Formats: sequence, C-alpha cells, structure tokens
Amino acid sequence: MKIRLVTLPGDGIGPEVIRQAVRVLNAVADLTGLSVEVTEHLVGAAAIRTTGVPLPEPTLAACLKANAVLLGAVGDPAYDNHPPTLRPEAGLLALRTALGGFANLRPAVAFEPVLDVSPLKRERVRGADVLVVRELLGGLYYGEPRGREPDGRGAFNTLRYSTAEIERVARVAFEEARRRRRKVTSVDKANVLEVSRLWREVVTRIAKDYPDVALAHMYVDSFAMRLATSPTDFDVVLTDNLFGDILSDEAAVISGSLGLLPSATLGGSVALYEPVHGSAPDIAGKDVANPIGAIGCVAMLLRHTAHMAREADAVDAATREVLAHGLRPADLARPGDTPASTTEVGAAVERAVIDSLERHWAYHAV
Ligand code: NAD
Ligand code: IPM
Ligand code: MN
Repeated sequence: MKIRLVTLPGDGIGPEVIRQAVRVLNAVADLTGLSVEVTEHLVGAAAIRTTGVPLPEPTLAACLKANAVLLGAVGDPAYDNHPPTLRPEAGLLALRTALGGFANLRPAVAFEPVLDVSPLKRERVRGADVLVVRELLGGLYYGEPRGREPDGRGAFNTLRYSTAEIERVARVAFEEARRRRRKVTSVDKANVLEVSRLWREVVTRIAKDYPDVALAHMYVDSFAMRLATSPTDFDVVLTDNLFGDILSDEAAVISGSLGLLPSATLGGSVALYEPVHGSAPDIAGKDVANPIGAIGCVAMLLRHTAHMAREADAVDAATREVLAHGLRPADLARPGDTPASTTEVGAAVERAVIDSLERHWAYHAV
C-alpha cells in the first residue's frame, strides 16, 4: 500500500511537532514496508509571509491529490488584526471545506502514567475515554450571511444546519460508538436554539438504525459541567462545530494537557489529521512543545487511512510506554522533573515503536 501524505507544518510549534510525527511514521513505514511519500507545503502565516495568502494554490492542489494531509497548526499573533480572509485560520477553514471531511474525531483519554497532571481528581478521571465527534463543515463557522453592519456598529453570524449535514455526522458517531462502549451523548442547546431542536430530532431518528447504541441528549451548559465532574460517564460525544471546538479543549483536561490530543477528519475525499492544539506562540521555537498529539495523529492515520490497526495500536502503546517510563515534556512535568524536549520525546516514541513492532510483530528493518 502506498500513501501520498502532504504535511503542512504551518506556524509556531506546528513544524516542531510535525517533525516528530513524521519520524515516527517513517519508522513504522521502514519496518512494515508501508510506502509513504511525504511532501511538505505551506499553510497559515508561513504561507502568507511568502505568498500573500494563507492557502496557496500549490498547497491546495497537492492536498487534493493526496491520500491524507497532516497539519501542525496555524496562527500567528502578527496577523490577528488582518482582514478575516487573510488570517492564517482562514487557510485552515478553506482547506477543511476543500477536503470535504465533515466528521472530526477528537479522542481524549486519561493516560494512567500521567493521571497526576490532570487538575481533576484522580479517582474521577481514571479510566476516562471520550471521543468527541465534532461536525466540522457547518454551523456558525460557515453560516451565511455573516459580516459587519455597514455602519460598523454591529456584526452577525448565522447558525444553520441542514438535516443532511446532521444525519451524516450522526451516523459517524453511532458507527464509532459500535466500536467502543455503544453510548452516544448528543450535545446541543435545544432549550433555546431552533437549529438544536432540528439537531435533536435528526439524531433521535438516526439512532433508530442503531438500536444497540444508547443515545442521550444533553444541553451544552450542563454537559460542560458534567464532563469535568464525571468524565467517565461519557463514551462518544456528538456535537456541532462550535460546541465541539470548545468541548474538545475542555476534554483535554481529562488527559492533562492539550498537547496530548490528536484528531482525524473523515468523510471527505482526503483525510485530514491535525492535533487539537494551536500554534502556541508562547512556547514556539524552544523545542519544548509536546509532540504527542501530533504523534497520535500518525496513529489515527495508520488506523483510518492505511488500515493498519495493529501498527496504530503500537504507536499509541509506545506513547504510553514512554510516559510510563517517566519521560515528560514540559507541559506534563511535575515540580522537580527535568522536562524532556520535543525532540527527545519524539525520539523516545520512535524507539519504543520500533521495539514493539520488532518484539510483538516480528517486523525487522531491511
Ligand atoms: P493554543 O492551543 O495554541 O495554546 C493554548 C495553550 O496550550 C498555550 O499555553 C500553549 O502553550 C499550550 N499548548 C498548546 N499546544 C501545546 C503543546 N503541543 N505542548 C505544550 N503546550 C501546548 O491556543 P491559543 O494560544 O488560543 O492560540 C494560538 C494560535 O493558534 C491562535 O492563532 C489560534 O487561532 C491558533 N489555533 C490553531 C489551531 C489549529 O491550527 N488547528 C487550533 C487552535 C488554535
Ligand atoms: C481547532 C482550532 C480551529 C477551529 C481554528 C484555528 C480555526 O481552534 O481546530 O480546534 O476553531 O476549528
Ligand atoms: Mn480549537
């Protein structure tokens, strides 16, 4: 099997974490014979600086021809006051639309070796394993009309979902639940919003096709509280674009750091993998960022694009093993720990993956 992968390192810590993700992917490819052709392109502020736009034509063309895209992060405070279409984030939103993936899978698990990092009580967070299925191509992010009033003294966005948009992402959530603990919690604001009432109706109807999966509906405000107080109550969480953005960062508290969370966007012509975190300008360029979210994207790519589930499991297991051995990047370090650099964490996961593939699966480097 041959994978054409486009990497878009982007801005801030993006290039630092993508470098480590690619080294882990290359290690798996070398051992297993998976053929991966990696080409790198510009996106975000890095693209604006050299081409004037956040999603240059050659980048888009390469992504559309690829099997998968791995993006680091976009965003640079230097462009915060640029017009909306010339911001780094506009490049990412346009890319998502072009690739067509509408279901953004954001898993958040409590890693046993770093339970102490979560601000949540250990006994509450232990065993938590949540998959946020975030609708990624609709809702407030894309609804028209949007803009500023002509006098500049007001602004508006539109929240809009069609039945078809809700149906397709709901099906992904139920299918994922079947591979997990068969529970979907659909999160909305149906006590106030018409769109949420439609969301609830459609999800309830789709659930009839999945009688083996339990469905619950929750309002987003109370869900946000319950996610922090009883994270183990949840399995798959299905929600819209904006709520999913917010709740997936909140879910990072289960794992202990935003730097640990990967994501996969499926359902389109090209799969898109990106860690949940942003460009983290506050720590960029120092080799201190946590690359585990980006490395988790490699595991998701192996699972969903390469259909190599056991190799995907090996990458996830290698990450856990590295954490279990006490190697911790700065965001997970306890007082008194010497934090491991981005590069050291990447190297350690690479070694652990090679070791596990050789030991358990009798792969040998050729
Ligand atoms: P952020 O996710 O970049 O950072 C939030 C906090 O988490 C910061 O303190 C940061 O240092 C820390 N953090 C994030 N990733 C980390 C990692 N891998 N290791 C260690 N610590 C990490 O969010 P922000 O500061 O609100 O946004 C910064 C920029 O990133 C903005 O321009 C925003 O639009 C953009 N952004 C991009 C993406 C994306 O490209 N997918 C996602 C979120 C935010
Ligand atoms: C994310 C990010 C993006 C989003 C931004 C950078 C456009 O926050 O992927 O979580 O809001 O979708
Ligand atoms: Mn976000």
